[in-house]
Amino acid sequence: MKRPVKRRPNIVLVGFMGTGKTSVGRRLASQLRMRYVDTDDIIERDSERRISDIFAEDGEPAFRELESEAVRKASKLNNHVISTGGGVVLKEANMIELKRNGVVFCLTATAEEIYRRVGHQTHRPLLQTSDALSKIQSMLAERRPYYAEADYMIRTTGRSFGEIITHIKRVFTKSTRNPKWREPYA
Ligand code: S3P
Repeated sequence: MKRPVKRRPNIVLVGFMGTGKTSVGRRLASQLRMRYVDTDDIIERDSERRISDIFAEDGEPAFRELESEAVRKASKLNNHVISTGGGVVLKEANMIELKRNGVVFCLTATAEEIYRRVGHQTHRPLLQTSDALSKIQSMLAERRPYYAEADYMIRTTGRSFGEIITHIKRVFTKSTRNPKWREPYA
């Protein structure tokens, strides 16, 4: 007799640029023997264009449409770690899709830490400004209520990848056993 295939929900990582979604997501997937997918990669693969080119040529609203399409695709998967772009939380429909079959973790970091991690990088169109730290501070403030829609918040400033991953694994295991479970201090 065939054993039923155990379907694990997805682990979804949201959070501001530079909070470590990609690095944490890849490590998490390999430790939990889950597959890894990134909505930004889906967008670039499907459109055969770089995100910076999409922003430059078609503008942010066009990018957000492609992002929602990528979210719809990723949300159909099972047993995946899904990493998302920092602005995915801005559309309620994206969050509804991602939560349907996933536990949503928001990685957080202070503005100064984010600036230290990504301030020198050039591939994020929204941070190409003369004062990236102020931009990060104002975007973080604007987006805070959207990130708060995640199921769980995971602090990354001052913590190692090992600590962050152990934390997510513990919460994921508990929450999949009991979806109503909440961290006492969350
Ligand atoms: C964005 C974050 C980026 C990418 C795009 C827009 C945002 O992804 O989706 O540049 O609005 O915060 P990362 O968070 O992976 O850098």
